[in-house]
Amino acid sequence: MKTVVIYKPKSGFTKEYAKWIAQELAADIFEASKINSEILIDYDNIIYGGGLYAVGINGVEFIMQNLDKLKDKKAVVFATGASTFKEEVVSEVSKKNFTLEQQEQIRFFYLRGGFNFSKLKPIDKVLMTLMKWKMKFFLTNYRYKLI
Ligand SMILES: Cc1cc2nc3c(=O)[nH]c(=O)nc-3n(C[C@H](O)[C@H](O)[C@H](O)COP(=O)(O)O)c2cc1C
Repeated sequence: MKTVVIYKPKSGFTKEYAKWIAQELAADIFEASKINSEILIDYDNIIYGGGLYAVGINGVEFIMQNLDKLKDKKAVVFATGASTFKEEVVSEVSKKNFTLEQQEQIRFFYLRGGFNFSKLKPIDKVLMTLMKWKMKFFLTNYRYKLI
């Protein structure tokens, strides 16, 4: 049984999990951008990992566009995110990223990642700064209404 772990890295959390999983399963490991999807044919078990960005799994299209190659194989997708583990989080991410039919074909796991502002790409830094300002504005202007 051949297993491969494929991941899309951003700030390092998914890569770390991908390395741990590959080591534990004695699996091959590849960064998604460095391989051709044709290699999926060579494996029995396919594990894909990406970080969560606005509930979307980074780069999950790699799996979605190749579902035909995953027939008769075991397919697992994991996502790392900053949210604490809750069934509601797993369910929301599953619903956003997979149809009901796909949820039967693909086993999904949520793994707690983290947040490292210094390692974010400029676009993500801008997004997070805007979100911080928005939250600050909300807390400053509406906190009295909440009390
Ligand atoms: C713009 C942005 C959006 C994010 N959205 C979510 C989210 O919806 N849910 C979550 O749990 N974490 C979210 N995060 C946190 C990342 O998913 C978390 O840091 C993840 O572990 C990153 O893994 P990576 O660096 O391997 O991509 C977000 C981070 C950024 C910068």
